[in-house]
Amino acid sequence: MENIEKKPYERFSGQIKYIEKVKNDNDATFAERGERRRAFVVTFGCQQNEADGEKMKGLALAMGYDLTQEVSEASLILVNTCAIREHAEKRALSIIGQYKHLKQKNPELIIGISGCMVTQEHREYEIKHSYPYVDFIVGTSAFHRIPELIYERRARDKRQFCREDEYAVVEGMPIKRDSTYRAWVSVMYGCNNFCSYCIVPYVRGRERSRQKQEVLREVEELVRAGYKDITLLGQNVNSYGKDLRADYDFADLLSELDKIEGDYTLHFMTSHPKDATKKLIDVMAKGKHIAKHFHLPMQSGSDRVLSAMNRRYDFEKYIGIVDYIREKMPTATLSSDIIVGFPGESDEDFEATLSALHRARFDMIYSFIYSPRKGTPAAEMDTQIPDKIKSERFDRLLETQNGIALEANKKLEGQTLRVLCDGRSKNNSEMFTGRTEGNKIVFFDGTDSDEGKFIDIFIERGETFALWGRKA
Ligand code: SAH
Ligand code: SF4
Ligand code: F3S
Repeated sequence: MENIEKKPYERFSGQIKYIEKVKNDNDATFAERGERRRAFVVTFGCQQNEADGEKMKGLALAMGYDLTQEVSEASLILVNTCAIREHAEKRALSIIGQYKHLKQKNPELIIGISGCMVTQEHREYEIKHSYPYVDFIVGTSAFHRIPELIYERRARDKRQFCREDEYAVVEGMPIKRDSTYRAWVSVMYGCNNFCSYCIVPYVRGRERSRQKQEVLREVEELVRAGYKDITLLGQNVNSYGKDLRADYDFADLLSELDKIEGDYTLHFMTSHPKDATKKLIDVMAKGKHIAKHFHLPMQSGSDRVLSAMNRRYDFEKYIGIVDYIREKMPTATLSSDIIVGFPGESDEDFEATLSALHRARFDMIYSFIYSPRKGTPAAEMDTQIPDKIKSERFDRLLETQNGIALEANKKLEGQTLRVLCDGRSKNNSEMFTGRTEGNKIVFFDGTDSDEGKFIDIFIERGETFALWGRKA
């Protein structure tokens, strides 16, 4: 029997008094004006950040705010930022810049910045000095303290800077999920890998896993509430459990979750190839609810670059995992992340990545141009690649992958696939859209009542980025 720590709950229960204080104030304003104060929460970045954003929305509701999509009517703005590439930070800073005039119009407005960008010391400094209308910043390890920061900001009229807290697992926070049928469940936080290009270990702290019982309870509740698609999250999900010193690992967790009765699919991301075990693949192959979809970032096909990236595997090891996945699950969908233009990447290294794409035949890739991140070893390397070469390589990478993806999607023509419907397509309201078990986008003729349900779709046409079909 594992020993469940009490501490994680205690960490959040300390906030209850602040939630009540802010709520009392918000309720009094409501009684006076007949209108609730509203909160606007915007999230940039990865699914982990989206999941944090849903907790921030949960906190806002608990504090007596209504949620709004209209930033101009908000009394509380939370910008949940990302730092993975320069572009992500620029977008967040430009959005924050646009909120200055809102503060001038509404002095009661509170603006808070959370997430990975402001967990960096130099960005805290920048917000402190160049964005005086920002009321508080809160780092990734401390956002459970948002109620306290709002309370202190109002009570003391002093800006709050809470960049780091103890990097703990905080349980018991309220969550307002964006969807009624797709859900994120974080199983671990942080990263210990220190890939030489990546900022994540610096802004998310060391790996820490949630207790198995907590994850089981959350997934059971979601299935009971009718959630159909549940994604287990972690920067490196398959190192789940290592820090717990328990006798179970991610494969054991997945296998136990799979036993929960119900009509749902389990996904997980992201896996690091160095920890993707045969045991995990065997559990997937046998699973009843586990999607036969593996997202396995390769980053590069060149051993030299992989070593400089500190990825701790070579192409042979990587492709060995891919082959084992295909052997055990011939229908599995495979996706990957690729970076082009890592410092020192030669033409030959880049060609190795292109041939790796032909060999691995991913269904899809997420490709990125290398972006130097302050404080990471790769940013200090004096072999940075010129932008022009980076973008030429990026275009060639896409061109190569597009051909491979098209072929993979054409093979699905004539098959009937189970699709979780997401309702009407945003671009063409005549069509309905959804995703397959392998996360491929499908367009089909549907009805509004299909949203949130699994529908069998006969695939008529496979294109590079999507499948087209009709109800089977
Ligand atoms: N933990 C996950 C992914 C984290 S970030 C993993 O290890 O796979 C998602 C992707 O962003 C990474 O896989 C990588 O391809 C990309 N990325 C990370 N840092 C980057 C940088 N500095 N420049 C460009 N892309 C980067
Ligand atoms: Fe970044 Fe590497 Fe950790 Fe992924 S495994 S978050 S790429 S350091
Ligand atoms: Fe961005 Fe932080 Fe995620 S840097 S990608 S939001 S972990």
